[in-house]
Amino acid sequence: MFIVFEGIDGSGKDTIINKISHWLAEQNVAHITTFEPGNVLGGNVRNIIKEHKKLDVEAETLLFLADRKEHIEHVVKPALKLGLWVLQNRYMLSTVAYQGAKGMSVDTIYELFDKFILLKPNICFLLDVPAEVAYQRIRRRGSKIDKFENITYLTIVRKLYLKYAQDWNCKIVDATQRPDDVYKEIRGVLFPLLDDMN
Ligand SMILES: Nc1ncnc2c1ncn2[C@@H]1O[C@H](COP(=O)(O)OP(=O)(O)OP(=O)(O)O)[C@@H](O)[C@H]1O
Ligand SMILES: [Mg+2]
Repeated sequence: MFIVFEGIDGSGKDTIINKISHWLAEQNVAHITTFEPGNVLGGNVRNIIKEHKKLDVEAETLLFLADRKEHIEHVVKPALKLGLWVLQNRYMLSTVAYQGAKGMSVDTIYELFDKFILLKPNICFLLDVPAEVAYQRIRRRGSKIDKFENITYLTIVRKLYLKYAQDWNCKIVDATQRPDDVYKEIRGVLFPLLDDMN
């Protein structure tokens, strides 16, 4: 079971992945949690993108996809083969939304997916919040605001997330709810899937 969590910065992805991971452990469901970008290639892709503020958007997209290809082949597929559930922070829809918001052709992203990546999530949760809410959360968390995180940009990213969510098996979740309510809603969707294992 390949389960992806999407949403703009500060939407609550890590918070919910921790809760779901905890719950799956209680249910004796063997799983891993993982994330993109930068879980492979020593985090180098993430660093390049952070350091080169004016990277060409197509170059940036290809870097993310290179990182993703490596991650899918060497982390996700082996785990799925062992029968583990994979809880993943960010996937293709992040590229569609974040690079799409910078003018990258979404058709080209889809073509690259069809050529090199191919693996679709069984289910995805799009944690949907207005950019202003996410921005306040990031500030409260005390994180440095990086170049991906200004409100105007994140507003466009959010729109693209919502527009393309269906293509990636994403259920849209109102992530302005309290963390516990977000958790209960997602757990409710995953609960019936536990039976499929037996
Ligand atoms: N439903 C919620 N309501 C209010 N605050 C929340 C909620 N979910 C998470 N938070 C808080 O908002 C901040 C961002 O959450 P989190 O780090 O889980 O988001 P994220 O999507 O992983 O962000 P990023 O993409 O920047 O890593 C954290 O301080 C977290 O405690
Ligand atoms: Mg996070």
